[in-house]
Amino acid sequence: MSNICKEQICYETYKETADWLLSKISHRPKVAIICGSGLGMLADALTNPKIFKYADVPNFPQSTVKGHAGQLVFGDLNGKTCVCMQGRFHMFEGYPLTKVTFPVRVFRLMGVEVMIVTNAAGSVADGYNTGDIMIIKDHINMPGLIGLHPLIGPNDERFGTRFPSMSDAYDKSLGKLALEISKELKCSNYIKEGVYCMVGGPNFETIAEARLLHILGVDAVGMSTVPEVIVAKHCGLHVFGLSLITNKVTREYDSNEVVNHDAVLSISKMRAEMIQSLVMELVARMKVNNDY
Ligand code: HPA
Repeated sequence: MSNICKEQICYETYKETADWLLSKISHRPKVAIICGSGLGMLADALTNPKIFKYADVPNFPQSTVKGHAGQLVFGDLNGKTCVCMQGRFHMFEGYPLTKVTFPVRVFRLMGVEVMIVTNAAGSVADGYNTGDIMIIKDHINMPGLIGLHPLIGPNDERFGTRFPSMSDAYDKSLGKLALEISKELKCSNYIKEGVYCMVGGPNFETIAEARLLHILGVDAVGMSTVPEVIVAKHCGLHVFGLSLITNKVTREYDSNEVVNHDAVLSISKMRAEMIQSLVMELVARMKVNNDY
């Protein structure tokens, strides 16, 4: 398990990064958006943008995955100040989970109140199609169940409690609002609500693993999101998550379906506009400034 969960980051390090960013910009973001594979275009909608390459931000890890630009974009979206991560950090890249989730605490210290996460995922549920968009209502933290967890180690009460609740990790009112918006945008045919399961990756699932996930009640599977959501919930952020279904995870030995990363990216491109409209409208209508 090497250093995956042992590397602790102290409060002062998060604070140093938050203060550095605040000293460089006049934006005071209330909403953070983490863009999944091929979904970085969400940041293109920001007006009055200010961009920082991860390499230029003190203490920031680097993103190594194709389809991830590796930059922070601050800007305004429908009247709210936002920060977008174009590219996230994954456990399979070899990062300790404290590094994977590093930006979340930085955002909290900058004054962010709501975190929106998007990802590309494979569908396990029957009745899901490629191109569907799943509002995440709950998750299974597969690595966490065996101790690969971002909150392992000493707890810093300045961020949150030792034993945070996770039964309410995904904000119900934001989920409801997103459903309403999808109806208005006439895209509700593509919208599902379901359970996301994080696996470590980087390989896609075997057929036996896919069958296991199906038995467990998983609707969509991917290699990200859950560590960020846990750390966000721990430090008091409201969380909304979307999975774009980029492929079906086959459970049949005689199937010819094989998934690859380029297919994932091409489906993301196809649905980019719909996801952008949904997220923009959600940001426009959500309440921030502590009047949540
Ligand atoms: N499995 C895991 N992660 C994924 C998949 C998948 O099928 N598709 C996109 N990310």
